[in-house]
Amino acid sequence: MRDANPQTIYLKDYQVPDYLIHTVELNFTLDERRTQVVSRLSLARNPNSQSSETALVLAGENLKLIRIVLNDDQELTEADYHITPESLIIHDVPQQRPFTLNIENEINPKANTALEGLYLSNGMLCTQCEAEGFRKITYFLDRPDVMAKFTTTLVGDKDRYPILLSNGNLIAQGDDDNNRHWVTWEDPFSKPCYLFALVAGQLECLEDSFTTLSGRKVGLQIFVEQHDIDKCGHAMQSLKNAMAWDEQVYGREYDLDLYMIVAVSHFNMGAMENKGLNIFNTKFVLARPDTATDSDYEHIEGVIGHEYFHNWTGNRITCRDWFQLSLKEGFTVFRDQEFSGDRSSKAVKRIEDVNMLRTRQFAEDAGPLAHPIRPDAYIEINNFYTLTVYEKGAEVVRMLHTLLGSEGFRKGCDCYFQRHDGQAVTCDDFVSAMEAANGRDLNQFRRWYSQAGTPVIHVIENYRTDEKTLALTIKQHCAPTPGQPAKELLHIPITVGLLDKQGNAIPCNLQESATGNYEVILQLTAAEQTFTFTGLAEKPVASILRNFSAPVKLTMERSLDELAFLLSYDSDTFNRWEAGQQLVGQVITGLIVDSQQGRPLNLPPIIIDAFKRVLSQSWEDLSYFSLLLSLPSEGYLAEQMQVVDVEAIHKAREFVVRTLAEQLQPELEALYLDNHRDESGQFDAGAIGRRRIKNVSLSFLSRLGNEKVQQWSTQQFNTANNMTDQIAALANIVNYPHPAKQECLTLFYQKWQQEALVIDKWFAIQASSPMPDAFATVVSLTAHPAFDLGTPNRVRAVIGSFTQANSLHFHAVNGQGYEFLANHVIALDILNPQVASRMLGPLTSWRRFDPTRQNLMKTQLERVMNSPSISRDVYEVASKSLM
Ligand code: PHE
Ligand code: ZN
Repeated sequence: MRDANPQTIYLKDYQVPDYLIHTVELNFTLDERRTQVVSRLSLARNPNSQSSETALVLAGENLKLIRIVLNDDQELTEADYHITPESLIIHDVPQQRPFTLNIENEINPKANTALEGLYLSNGMLCTQCEAEGFRKITYFLDRPDVMAKFTTTLVGDKDRYPILLSNGNLIAQGDDDNNRHWVTWEDPFSKPCYLFALVAGQLECLEDSFTTLSGRKVGLQIFVEQHDIDKCGHAMQSLKNAMAWDEQVYGREYDLDLYMIVAVSHFNMGAMENKGLNIFNTKFVLARPDTATDSDYEHIEGVIGHEYFHNWTGNRITCRDWFQLSLKEGFTVFRDQEFSGDRSSKAVKRIEDVNMLRTRQFAEDAGPLAHPIRPDAYIEINNFYTLTVYEKGAEVVRMLHTLLGSEGFRKGCDCYFQRHDGQAVTCDDFVSAMEAANGRDLNQFRRWYSQAGTPVIHVIENYRTDEKTLALTIKQHCAPTPGQPAKELLHIPITVGLLDKQGNAIPCNLQESATGNYEVILQLTAAEQTFTFTGLAEKPVASILRNFSAPVKLTMERSLDELAFLLSYDSDTFNRWEAGQQLVGQVITGLIVDSQQGRPLNLPPIIIDAFKRVLSQSWEDLSYFSLLLSLPSEGYLAEQMQVVDVEAIHKAREFVVRTLAEQLQPELEALYLDNHRDESGQFDAGAIGRRRIKNVSLSFLSRLGNEKVQQWSTQQFNTANNMTDQIAALANIVNYPHPAKQECLTLFYQKWQQEALVIDKWFAIQASSPMPDAFATVVSLTAHPAFDLGTPNRVRAVIGSFTQANSLHFHAVNGQGYEFLANHVIALDILNPQVASRMLGPLTSWRRFDPTRQNLMKTQLERVMNSPSISRDVYEVASKSLM
């Protein structure tokens, strides 16, 4: 629990470590309640240390120290050291030559509900050490710039812990007395302790292998609880795809003889890239056609890729300090995005990523917790695994890719790997490698790392008939964020294309450099710049910020006609979709005002025509087609408003969806029926696309409340043998009035009660329903026997879904949603501060609402902040959002 005055850590205070650790030999005698840890460290004073301090300060929390021996013969007494709640300070250690420390301590995995360090998940022992969990295992220099070679011996009961895993290669094993056995693992690569892992338990294993480009055979193993062994095939295939992709695209091979993945049911995050021994949330491993949706399949491939790619971007080259987190996370997200795009549809993947960035990261960047992708201060580092560090970080890497081109980017990556392999480095080192390999000056670009907030780009067009020119005047501006009142100018790549009246692409010849290319990347570096295109006999339509070439908000005057034109003709798949979003978005924004002022709602015919045109075309990529038919989300619409009005947003948006369903009923029904066929277990783009467009149609039609569509839903629910179709049907049954709702929910629960991940879906669907009884339902779900505050996936399914995916009811004006969240955060914080702090998120955006809601939200935030012994994690989020 929190000390009275939580300390802020600053990037500017960074100092090299005073001591280095060369090797670590760990010995664990495993037990649920009393695991014994023996650690033998070989240390030496760091010759580069700037400090005059000679004491050795090791981090350690919740440890029971048994004994310390210096240089194998000198047992330290209490006069030689001092223990604080967070550290072990040894007053006097050799300064001139290397020395060893043998430290023995005990830990209690069963009592560890925070799921950091060594903990228990369904009887299995496992670890989570990033960011600072290793200090809950033993005393250590728990910082990423201390890299050591680890050898780990695990000793445990043969029946309880038949499988004993750690990083690297298995080098020895044997039997002990008392029905115990032991295994020794050696990791030949130096690593920071946050990449350490161990797993022990009764696990089944799926095995395969991969032969690398240079012909080395790597063993691949996925470990799961016994009953899940039939759900590992997709994860294994994804791993092989990722390994091949990293060889092809980045020239990077895997470096150990063994790659292990373990799936655990209790996990705070998605997955963890521990060297050679990834530990995953079951959600991102387990899939069978009848239990996992198409989107689950995609996420699994993405996360498996992400953790695999970390082997080079994170493990071989790691972060100097936690302020550099985006060095590994932003880069690795960029890599996994590209991998997923190459594996399925680049267009769809890009749209989904931008959607998430714009609804969630933009909100973070505009709120009280806004921070640069490389933050400069934190209280609790766990709070900085954010959308900004990850997703905006990936956008920044993507801009480098755009500015340098694929080849230049690859050269930069090669230079980075070559310069820094085996080191702990900074974001700046990454940019420097890009500069060196390309002979470019990226100094202004570097500001993306230090500056928070989403820049707004305003574009004004000026076409001159006499000169046959189109001038684009582009301005950039970024509003202040907490701690950054004045913003510097950024280097922003803006990709532009031009279309003639018929919708054909035309060459983009800039006045100063006529290349004849059909697309240009404008380099915006000043507050205002004018770019003039020449040789334009008629006024073209400009397609701006193609492929979302920078994480900015683009504002410009666009008529509905121009947007409809781009929706029909833009060759850039992102901007084509974006035009549709803006078209509908503008109309819904108008309807929100109408609804607030009590005027009747009318849908302009241009929207219906635009949808008709999309529906009448034939689409090869049905997933992309589905996205063109999807309206901007309530979250995205909220982002556009000065004062968020959840009721008006919901009402206006639902009005548009229902009207479209009425007006396009025959087309949508045909689309449903044409694509409804039995192809369970098929995961090619065609089958996925057919399921997607079919379920989008069904969702539109469900708003009509007619019996025929209700029957389609029930029938699809009853007969589906893939989870995509079954859950889509159930969602419609739960979200709109349906006579069989309770019956279907009961059936579903009975059928799937043994499958935790499927039951999470059952909880999530009910928690996010717009139906009027949603709050009462959520309250009763938290009393359901299968609800458990100790299981993060379940907490996210119920509390996360209600507070993040059900704005309408969470923001009910009586404040009951806010109080509900605060109650659960306070209760959860005692068990798991990291997850509690994440759950608090939705309350932090209180400034975006009307005064009544602001007060209600603030009251709950204050209650959370002032509740006794609140964690540092929750304290930081609550206090900063109230500042
Ligand atoms: N490093 C993990 C990833 O992004 C995320 C993570 C952070 C997992 C902290 C657990 C704890 O791949
Ligand atoms: Zn990561």
